Amino acid sequence: MKKLLLVLIVLINLPLAATTQKSGQETPPLLLGVAWYPEQWPESRWDTDLSLMEAAHIHLVRIGEFAWSRIEPEEGKYDLDWMERAIALAAKHHIVVVIGTPTDAPPAWMTQKYPDILRVNIDGHRDEHGNRRQFSYTSPRYLALCREVVERLAVRFGHNPNVIGWQIGNEFSLDSYDSYTKHLFQQWLRNKYKTLDALNQHWTTAYWSQTYTQWDQIPMEDTHGNPGLLLDHKRFVSDAWLHFEKNQITVLRAHIAPRQFITTNIGGLAWRDPWDHYTIAQPLDLAAWDDYVGEGHVAPYKDGAMHDLIRGLKQKNFWVMEAQPGFVNWAPVNNVLNRGEVRLMAWAAIGHGADAISYWQWRSALNGQEQYHGVLVGADGTPVPLYEEIKQIGEEFERIAPEFTGTSPQSDVAILHDYDSRWAIDFQPHTDRYDQLKVLLDYYRPLRDLAQSIDVISPYVDLDRYKLVVAPDLNVIPDALGQHLLSYVQHGGHLVLGPRSGMKDAYNALDVHRQPGPLAGPLGGRVEQFYALEKSITAAGTWGNATVDIWAEALSTRNPATRVLMRYGKSNGWLDGQPAVITRQIGKGSITYIGALFDAATMDAAARWMADESGVHPVFGPLPPGVEVCRRVGQNSTIFILINHNPASVNVTLPHPMKDLLAGHTVTTVVLPVQGVAVLEER
Ligand code: GAL
Repeated sequence: MKKLLLVLIVLINLPLAATTQKSGQETPPLLLGVAWYPEQWPESRWDTDLSLMEAAHIHLVRIGEFAWSRIEPEEGKYDLDWMERAIALAAKHHIVVVIGTPTDAPPAWMTQKYPDILRVNIDGHRDEHGNRRQFSYTSPRYLALCREVVERLAVRFGHNPNVIGWQIGNEFSLDSYDSYTKHLFQQWLRNKYKTLDALNQHWTTAYWSQTYTQWDQIPMEDTHGNPGLLLDHKRFVSDAWLHFEKNQITVLRAHIAPRQFITTNIGGLAWRDPWDHYTIAQPLDLAAWDDYVGEGHVAPYKDGAMHDLIRGLKQKNFWVMEAQPGFVNWAPVNNVLNRGEVRLMAWAAIGHGADAISYWQWRSALNGQEQYHGVLVGADGTPVPLYEEIKQIGEEFERIAPEFTGTSPQSDVAILHDYDSRWAIDFQPHTDRYDQLKVLLDYYRPLRDLAQSIDVISPYVDLDRYKLVVAPDLNVIPDALGQHLLSYVQHGGHLVLGPRSGMKDAYNALDVHRQPGPLAGPLGGRVEQFYALEKSITAAGTWGNATVDIWAEALSTRNPATRVLMRYGKSNGWLDGQPAVITRQIGKGSITYIGALFDAATMDAAARWMADESGVHPVFGPLPPGVEVCRRVGQNSTIFILINHNPASVNVTLPHPMKDLLAGHTVTTVVLPVQGVAVLEER
């Protein structure tokens, strides 16, 4: 009991523990939370809810992100007293608060009085009230209204000791095609290109007579336009959301205590790409995302890769701002996660570098669009079956949180992920079977098994710390990026480029060197021709006998030092006997180009070859199949989290004795039941 109290005090005295934020304050590792909407319930109910949360060891609530009509029921008339009382009551229950700014759902009086703030769809239809996200993200009036409400909140709660952070809006998602946004896009282009001659040249507008003689002739498109325009439009959308975000951040920073962090919750299951996540993450103190499974069950590699991608946004620990309490309401089939799976996902998230997990939501509103969604408390106000599992997670987090202070994942292997390249490929996929998430996971899966820790990062960050850097399909390689990648190799790094790499320049124009663009010279080889495949073909070489499907590029070597690792078998005549994989040693480093999408067994062999070449070793050691390990490294200790994804229990022999933190003693083997997790500490 005494120990428990001590842990609680540590947890509640938040500035004491782990993750250091840019703004200087710290938040504790392993916070468990829920989205709570006090505005939807009579105040007399709040204490019961908070008591139930406290009993489940929940120490965080996110509030407010859809409460604008309660915060400002009439224009200029604010009511924040209820929020203050909710925050104070939460504090009594040792529950800290993240405030979501309410700008994802403007109130009805506002959209009625100022219909110009409503967004316009690509088909020209203006949204109406009755849903959320119906605002235009560039509307100067809406931005001003956002600033006002955020300022009220910031002044009132910016120094509230129980408020630890802020979430800007909610899952930025829908852009707008209104005439003002189009004007801004044209301004944005003018700023970028300065002259129409430059724009016309980079976009090759002589094609189909697109040549522009006035800035206001330029259309705003998101699917069928010139590829140069399409890519710039995506960048404009990213910058416009950045502006939307900074519009609020500036107000917050002027009023809030430095210890309060600022984040936003990234939706779209982390992978959706309506805007560049690296752009949006840039002014935030920490990255956060909403981790839902939807239909089916957790896919460990996919979910792990998405955690790693989000961790890569700021290259530090992150939060899961929304997690799935059993099931959702928006998938084709909203099945429940199996008993134990919610806990398994929570520990996997922690393993990949999450410091907090917050479930959406505590209790469903009695009406409103999401009545069927999973919750912790039912319509009658008493716990649903999942509550006990959440309580177990909460108890475990609370008990061993201090051990996680200052720990984070560390990897020798990086996978490069880049929005320009994703967009450029998706505008012109060339085969509708080309799925970039699958391509990324084809590399991630075998490399994760071998290295047991992977970073998924932007190609533009410092790469020198990595032994191996793999770019599954880095389509857009401007010259400066080519230089950056080459210098990594010259410093002894091992760079592996996958198919479609280096085809485009910064303007989404074809690179005149052919693939891989600026790296063709150093590689001593290039892509002679790319082919979308109708059916699978074969290849063979250093990585054994392979099947190639969907995409194949015929490569050539142009330097005696460039070696061929794999060649195609007989297929369309053009590919027969041509190189499919080439590699060149450069000093202590190397560049390898893989021109084909290979089957899983070949990707296993490829990953083994990459690990051998670059000296990558597993961070933990051998494990039975289906057991995932995650590592968090601290100053004085390393924590390993073992997760059993098998439908049966497994025994794991540890490389040496470790402390089982959940069991509380030293072990040399662990038995992992179905959905089982072990948290092991090495000092
Ligand atoms: C998220 C959203 C939440 C809630 C949830 C349901 O995308 O941020 O407000 O709608 O989905 O799964």
